[in-house]
Amino acid sequence: SDRYTVFGNPIEHSKSPMIHRHFAAQTNQALVYDKTLTPVDGFSQALAEFFNQGGRGCNITVPFKEQAWQLADQLSDAARKAGAVNTLTRLENGQLQGDNTDGVGLVQDLIANLRLNLAGKKILLLGAGGAVRGVIGPILAQSPASLLVANRTVEKANQLAKIFAEDGNITACGYPQLAGQQFDLVINGTAASLQGELPPLPDDLLANGAACYDMMYSTSDTAFQIWAKSHGAVIAADGLGMLIEQAAQAFYIWRNCRPVTGKLFLEMR
Ligand code: ATR
Repeated sequence: SDRYTVFGNPIEHSKSPMIHRHFAAQTNQALVYDKTLTPVDGFSQALAEFFNQGGRGCNITVPFKEQAWQLADQLSDAARKAGAVNTLTRLENGQLQGDNTDGVGLVQDLIANLRLNLAGKKILLLGAGGAVRGVIGPILAQSPASLLVANRTVEKANQLAKIFAEDGNITACGYPQLAGQQFDLVINGTAASLQGELPPLPDDLLANGAACYDMMYSTSDTAFQIWAKSHGAVIAADGLGMLIEQAAQAFYIWRNCRPVTGKLFLEMR
């Protein structure tokens, strides 16, 4: 049957094999999905081996997404500007198509699962690393009133605002400049959550009825979710839905078939 895998380092705790096997069983597709622990200096070789041996597609996770972007023969619009590829597909002609499904996954979780409407909303994105760069395009495609990217290192936020300037109303700032501003949706894309830390946020950051979303997820609330709940957020979600939806989008690209995600979300929760 058709072979897929996920490349990363570390890879042991990747949920992708479990998620894609669930989608395959649900849609009656015969496929094999493994995980491939890849030496940090051995990604291009591992990738070539996998596709030479008949692999049909793969996911790419830390720290290889930028290399995958370099190695793709073709890039989707979303992937080109994201500067990172998390999904590769072998086309009929043998070329590798690169996609980035993270942003679509986030937006799908916000709109379809959490029932949030992004159009006309004031959105704040915290962080300016690779994770944030991957989601800006799909967020701007929803026509928010404004998207502000705030980062500790302001220059990195400025660069992102420049790259995406033609795609919508996007500006950048440092955390001190958030004082006095309110937002309808605040998305945390910083790595701070991983260490149980938070960017310095003003107490009055959330507008009435505001929603908060942490792109990280964990078995218990993240530091950002705890902050959100104690500052009046109506919704304080973590990134489990995004993880599942980005996988569903990759599955759709590979199999031209859209899996249902709701039941899996409840099982993984
Ligand atoms: P990723 O690919 O996960 O986005 P990254 O490119 O290393 O990882 O980016 C990490 C992001 O988290 C950056 O925006 C970083 O801020 P800086 O650009 O100023 O370094 C942010 N970050 C990490 N730890 C943080 C902390 N304790 N407080 C605030 N921001 C933090």
